Amino acid sequence: MTGYEEFKKEIMSLTGIDLNAYKERQMKRRISTLCSKYGFHNYEDFYQDLRRNKEHQAQFLNYLTINVSEFYRNPMQWQVLETKIIPELLQGHKDSLKIWSAACSTGDEPYTIVMMLKERFPHVKVTLKATDIDNEVLAAAKQGCYSDKSILNLPPAYVSKYFHRQENGKYLLSEEIKRCVEFQQHNLLSDAYDTNYDLIVCRNVLIYFTEEAKMEVFKRFHHSLRPNGYLFIGSTEQILQAKNIHFESKYSFFYKKLVE
Ligand SMILES: C[S@@+](CC[C@H](N)C(=O)[O-])C[C@H]1O[C@@H](n2cnc3c(N)ncnc32)[C@H](O)[C@@H]1O
Repeated sequence: MTGYEEFKKEIMSLTGIDLNAYKERQMKRRISTLCSKYGFHNYEDFYQDLRRNKEHQAQFLNYLTINVSEFYRNPMQWQVLETKIIPELLQGHKDSLKIWSAACSTGDEPYTIVMMLKERFPHVKVTLKATDIDNEVLAAAKQGCYSDKSILNLPPAYVSKYFHRQENGKYLLSEEIKRCVEFQQHNLLSDAYDTNYDLIVCRNVLIYFTEEAKMEVFKRFHHSLRPNGYLFIGSTEQILQAKNIHFESKYSFFYKKLVE
């Protein structure tokens, strides 16, 4: 193996992750940081190590996919969700919602949705699937144990009602909230997408994808939403020329599926 092109191919067959879909400069920088951290100086030696050392392989995937998250991240946007989007989705005496939290990392985002709906729309029946490519973050999500940093933005009333502070200073989420979310491994770039969602939340992952990969994912989200359903994206993201793919930018970071 001589360079990055071959390394990408080998990583694809080893892990199923297509590095071509991620922005190259950023990926190369992250890969070379980790490569030097493990004491290797070229892609070949690094790849051979990843092949043999499952722990390094898991760390590599974890590091590559950047899984920082927090509860109620960007509070203003959650307020728009609560006061505008959810009431609109429930119009016409609708009393159930089908929601997908894609690239959910450690679960902070789907659990925020559950708490908000329980508090503000207690009569609504919710089906919430949360997915991520990384099994390690999914395992942490199912455990539901968080640092004080993760819950910093969460309204204090939610913290006292739904978390139990442990002796080690961590906050354990209540079973009542945990059992409302179904976690599943899913690669946005290669797995099938379910359909008929009222709301898809996918924040702070598409920024790492190339423009082509991102556009493909937006089109597939469009197909997965029911007519007039919403896509909620991250605070540094936007869909360029959204109308071309039949989305309307209704509020910042919220795109409504137009009926074709
Ligand atoms: C920065 S976190 C975002 C977490 C959460 N959505 C938020 O905004 O707080 C990005 C997540 O995307 C996941 N990810 C990266 N590539 C992915 C892919 N191809 N398919 C699904 N998830 C992916 C990572 O594992 C990571 O957990």
